[in-house]
Amino acid sequence: MTLDHVEGYRRALDVVARERKYLTMLEALPEPDTRRFVERSLENGNPMMVALAGGEVVGWCDIRRDFFPSRAHRGTLGLGLLPEWRGHGVGRRLLEATLAKARCAGFKRIELDVHADNPRAIGLYEKAGFVREGIVRDASLIDGVFRDAVLMAIVER
Ligand SMILES: CC(C)(COP(=O)(O)OP(=O)(O)OC[C@H]1O[C@@H](n2cnc3c(N)ncnc32)[C@H](O)[C@@H]1OP(=O)(O)O)[C@@H](O)C(=O)NCCC(=O)NCCS
Repeated sequence: MTLDHVEGYRRALDVVARERKYLTMLEALPEPDTRRFVERSLENGNPMMVALAGGEVVGWCDIRRDFFPSRAHRGTLGLGLLPEWRGHGVGRRLLEATLAKARCAGFKRIELDVHADNPRAIGLYEKAGFVREGIVRDASLIDGVFRDAVLMAIVER
């Protein structure tokens, strides 16, 4: 990802967030905040990837390094694709490319939490080597629906 992709990244994030099923965010942050977030992430060497189709951003995968020095080997992963681009292997490619960048950047532990009723994402993460570490009960409450989240991580050292 470069700063040229901020607008498209924000648009894709907003579409997926507004589905109100998959992400913690229910809408994207305003453009200036998103830009600042991406600028800082790129400056800090965080892996930030986008999937492009005809120059348009159709998905993203990013890893944010933990703020605390004792946890600087850890990163939290986020991933999403526009609905029409799901189920064609794009998620797998995005994930693999981002994990490869994370390894080069020295991350030793990549973690995430995923809604327990999202078998496609869980299946993809397991295939990539993520291991289930636990369940966060009633992790989210959206439109009156409580959802558990599965904590997953890859540890490599
Ligand atoms: C989750 C998401 C990124 C996956 O990307 P994708 O391109 O649709 O997934 P892929 O086509 O690469 O498939 C990934 C793998 O999961 C497997 N899979 C698909 N559906 C599955 C299911 N219901 N159960 C188990 N595994 C499943 C596929 O078989 C595939 O493995 P394969 O390549 O060996 O066949 C995408 O569907 C998405 O954006 N979903 C909405 C947002 C979201 O859930 N983000 C993650 C939040 S934590």
